[in-house]
Amino acid sequence: MEERKKIPVVMDFDTGTDDAVALITALLHRDMLDVCAVTAVAGNVPLEATAANTLNIVDALGHTDIPVAKGADKPLKRELHCAISHGKTGLGDVIVPDSERGFYEKDAADAIYEAALAHEGELFVLATGPQTNLAIAIQRHLDIVKLIKRVYIMGGCLVGGNMTQASEFNAYVDPEAMQILFRSGVDVVMVGLDVTLQTELPIWVRDRVEAAGTPEAKLAVQVMDFMIKRNKEFGYDVANLHDVVAFCAIVNPSVLKLKRYYVDVETEGTITRGMTVADFRDVCPDKEKNVTCAEDIDVEGFWNWFVDVFEKRGKRR
Ligand code: BDR
Ligand code: CA
Repeated sequence: MEERKKIPVVMDFDTGTDDAVALITALLHRDMLDVCAVTAVAGNVPLEATAANTLNIVDALGHTDIPVAKGADKPLKRELHCAISHGKTGLGDVIVPDSERGFYEKDAADAIYEAALAHEGELFVLATGPQTNLAIAIQRHLDIVKLIKRVYIMGGCLVGGNMTQASEFNAYVDPEAMQILFRSGVDVVMVGLDVTLQTELPIWVRDRVEAAGTPEAKLAVQVMDFMIKRNKEFGYDVANLHDVVAFCAIVNPSVLKLKRYYVDVETEGTITRGMTVADFRDVCPDKEKNVTCAEDIDVEGFWNWFVDVFEKRGKRR
């Protein structure tokens, strides 16, 4: 049987609890994905923590062949605004052993460009934090736009925010970066709050993942347990696996209802910083539709896929 070609991908995280679960889930797909690099950006917590979490998880799960690169330590033009609900380290009370290797010699933007050059026109990028690293890559390497096949982001929202009434956290943190990405001509898939807020972790899913008993399942459950606890004990965010939904869009897009719009990002507004503004009524006919937006999700299908990944893909070690 002919072997299916792996999808070349770079994944950029601000790890982060739900980023961690997305990273673990993604690492269970190496038969489908050629992971060229994993990169880190400041967002949920400062870069030192997101980068360490990313490298430590990659290595703890045995993927020491994947380069892990550090990226931007702050948004393009603003001070970094971190989240509180991921705890001080970004992983709540979960401790992952320190990796014994160093970061990739290139920074995140150059690592993305290197992969884009190597896979001319075929590279997928997943970004689940502020899109600062991608924006730097686009500004630094103008030809990258035609070298990337598609960028999947967790970020933005068609309706209603979680950071402000208008904006989603990643978009709020670095709206200039998101605007550069949306205006660049790169094909973008926006997996925003419209779908990710529908995926509040059900307890049966947590229990089935735990029962899978693999190292990946054990680590994911530790992180998910912290997410459940932070909501119950401190009243912070519910356990939403936002970033996992964005990863799912790459390998299992059929659970999402997607529609293409012209979308731009507000960078100037006093109450709309980071608002992703879609042209629902085609009032800007001269503007090309630039973003494919996830409008709805088959929630049951998503959770069945997620459980399947841990039950069928991990190996008890
Ligand atoms: C996004 O914000 C972060 O806190 C999460 O990791 C996710 O990427 C949701 O708005
Ligand atoms: Ca994130």
